[in-house]
Amino acid sequence: MDLLKRIIYPTHRASDSTLRNHFEGKWVVITGASRGIGWELAQTLIAAKANLFLIARSEAELKALCEEAGKAGCTAHYHAIDLRDREALTQLCEDLRNQCPYVDYLFVNAGKSIHRRLTDSLDRLHDFDRTMDLNYRSLVALSLSLQPHLRAVKGKIIYTSSISTIYPSAPGWAAYHASKEAANVWCRTADAEYSTYGVAVKIAYMPLVHTDMSDVNATYRQMPAFSAKEAADVLLYLALNGRHSYMPWWARVSKPFADVFAPVVRFVYRHFL
Ligand SMILES: NC(=O)c1ccc[n+]([C@@H]2O[C@H](COP(=O)([O-])OP(=O)(O)OC[C@H]3O[C@@H](n4cnc5c(N)ncnc54)[C@H](OP(=O)(O)O)[C@@H]3O)[C@@H](O)[C@H]2O)c1
Repeated sequence: MDLLKRIIYPTHRASDSTLRNHFEGKWVVITGASRGIGWELAQTLIAAKANLFLIARSEAELKALCEEAGKAGCTAHYHAIDLRDREALTQLCEDLRNQCPYVDYLFVNAGKSIHRRLTDSLDRLHDFDRTMDLNYRSLVALSLSLQPHLRAVKGKIIYTSSISTIYPSAPGWAAYHASKEAANVWCRTADAEYSTYGVAVKIAYMPLVHTDMSDVNATYRQMPAFSAKEAADVLLYLALNGRHSYMPWWARVSKPFADVFAPVVRFVYRHFL
């Protein structure tokens, strides 16, 4: 199992000195910093002495991270907010512009996944609003608002997407995948436009990660997966290299086959899922 995990989920840990060389004194904004992948990302960046602006709903966790950052000699702010709240999001954008002199890295990582079949969704239009507001709209709002701050230093936006968006659509995932795919398209378009100004917009097509989000599913709990720390390392690896996206090696290999054999995949979905 351990060997299988290492083959399917090769790690991308940069050395402490590389991280410090790149991130010390840089302004980094992270959404979804209170737990899971975002929390690990914040921890690594505190060790690298970055300045942080941390965003999520859980105030106690964000405050604790900021205190830790302060002790490590970093400047850190937090804003506890439900990113689906449009008025609060407008206020957050203003606070960000005022409190960060510029933005070197914007990690748009907060996310919500919902698995529910459309036949069970007749009275649940709000599932689609909630996933769009969090997984897509907050990305757009933050990226537009911080555009001048990113352009000032040729900054980077890194979006935590999902590997499952590259495969034929699976039953039950309409709300989650539609919102993630909307964000993917937005990121690719923004990358094409912003590259003129030296701003890169990158997508991490993340495979399974053991966090609160995935571990609610008993099957996922048993499967090999990245740890939250390893997933945070992937985001940093993508932030530091010249690529526009990250996906694991097996996704690059399997995607063309999944496209060619989409009718077979759909048959399996129809009869076995
Ligand atoms: N885990 C996986 O297998 C996996 C795979 C592919 C992609 N991803 C993506 O990875 C990202 C991070 O997920 P994770 O696995 O680390 O999940 P997680 O442990 O559940 O963390 C989600 C983070 O998003 C924040 N968040 C959730 N709803 C929010 C809201 N309405 N407003 C503000 N913040 C909110 C949470 O903080 P609060 O609850 O404090 O608000 C938390 O910090 C997500 O975008 C997810 O789609 C995960």
